Amino acid sequence: MLKIVLLTLAAVATSAQVQPTHPQLHYLQNEIMFLIHFNMGTYTYNGDPSCNPDNWNVKADYADGPSSDPQLFDPEKLDIQNWIQSMNDVGAKHAVLTAKHGCGFLLWPTKTLFDDGTNYPYHVGNSKGGRDVAGEFAEQMQAAGLGHGFYYSLPRNYYLNVDAMAVQGEDTWLENMANVTQDEFERIAMEQLDELWSNYGSFTEIWFDGGYSDSFKTKVQELLEEKQPNAVTFGGFGIGKHPVCWVGTETGLPDSEGIWIAGTENVGDYTSSNACPKGCDTTLQDDDFWFFETTKGIRELDDLKNVYHKTVGSNGVLEIDLAVNRDGVVEPSHAARYKELGDWIRSCYAEEVKDVVDRVVLREDMSEHGQNILSFKIQATTEENESWVDVWVGETVGIGNKKIVLLDEPLENVTGLKVAVTELIGGDGSDYGDLTVSGHGGEGCK
Ligand SMILES: *[C@@H]1O[C@H](CO)[C@@H](O)[C@H](O)[C@H]1NC(C)=O
Ligand SMILES: *[C@@H]1O[C@H](CO)[C@@H](O)[C@H](O)[C@H]1NC(C)=O
Ligand SMILES: *[C@@H]1O[C@H](CO)[C@@H](O)[C@H](O)[C@H]1NC(C)=O
Repeated sequence: MLKIVLLTLAAVATSAQVQPTHPQLHYLQNEIMFLIHFNMGTYTYNGDPSCNPDNWNVKADYADGPSSDPQLFDPEKLDIQNWIQSMNDVGAKHAVLTAKHGCGFLLWPTKTLFDDGTNYPYHVGNSKGGRDVAGEFAEQMQAAGLGHGFYYSLPRNYYLNVDAMAVQGEDTWLENMANVTQDEFERIAMEQLDELWSNYGSFTEIWFDGGYSDSFKTKVQELLEEKQPNAVTFGGFGIGKHPVCWVGTETGLPDSEGIWIAGTENVGDYTSSNACPKGCDTTLQDDDFWFFETTKGIRELDDLKNVYHKTVGSNGVLEIDLAVNRDGVVEPSHAARYKELGDWIRSCYAEEVKDVVDRVVLREDMSEHGQNILSFKIQATTEENESWVDVWVGETVGIGNKKIVLLDEPLENVTGLKVAVTELIGGDGSDYGDLTVSGHGGEGCK
């Protein structure tokens, strides 16, 4: 037995350990964040872009007016404290807001100009309430002690007739779109990013949905370094110093038991030398609906518990959607579900139990050695048996920020729990940080 363990150790010790940066570690430790979808899509339909020929210059039956009109964006009861309430209820530590989505509508009053000197008018300053939603969000999040950041997608801008980062031809151009050249689009996009990244505080996370093209890369990289050097960048691998990578699915259920901080694709790859923690983005509404839809149901609590275990409990970050409704608040049924989830997390995991343990939480301190544990066993002593008994054996599943192990059989009257590390990713066998282990279960986890 010992021989096998040593051989395995020798075989994997050649891999380098990957050290996450401080912002990457902080991101992982936040565990849950809100990916807030609130923009013109809220007032049209769920999509990217949510603007199209059927709603741009005509009032679609699902909308109160044409989507080209900034006045369609009309959150009469806009209340960011109400969003923050749900964040605290679910236990989210930071949030990212869609400052610009596929339509090209901006949640802040931009000062950017077209080449002819006229204003870019498609923004909240020209909406019914005229409020600077991005500004209010940044200010109130900071005041609440929560991290914040913004989503600004480069690939699409319906208002500018842009798709896949390129200005399209006259065949897709519609009345009330701007007519820009490729250079003009790229200049405007960079100036808008500059405004957003300069005037709304220090960000925890930035979303690049769909990434960036070669012609944007250097400019975006320099701007990021200058304005938001400490933000993690989702979808920004290759552009920032603190990238976060997509876990490869929007279900919240990654298809492997372990998520690695190393590697850039799907759940990652522990042999990779690239540090990229995984963001697991998923919706509360059914069917992958990100923008609020009155007719959509929401996911059951049991489904969300499973999502929590497969993301946060597998070393990922749960990026859960907050689909703000047309009034500008969290739909009451959604708010109730976030609270149920948060209440369950707290009642199951805040306190250790010993009488009936049906799950074990493990944490690896990655501040000095990164993620280094590859395989391990959980051992327990009980009042009935004082010798250490293996209660769970995990091969190549890792621990990382947090690993929640659901046991096949509950353990009664536990007197001790420990982890025996059987395989490391790199190093000489002792260089992993502190490990913490705690037992949970019983009524609080029901
Ligand atoms: C957009 O501008 C270009 C250059 O001025 C012009 O050739 C083209 O016809 C315009 N397109 C539309 C749809 O107005
Ligand atoms: C306690 O556990 C050890 C290890 O599995 C086993 O050998 C022993 O028989 C157990 N003792 C009792 C009293 O169950
Ligand atoms: C655990 O302890 C309780 C109370 O002493 C006892 O009734 C129960 O049988 C014990 N469980 C096991 C599996 O021995």
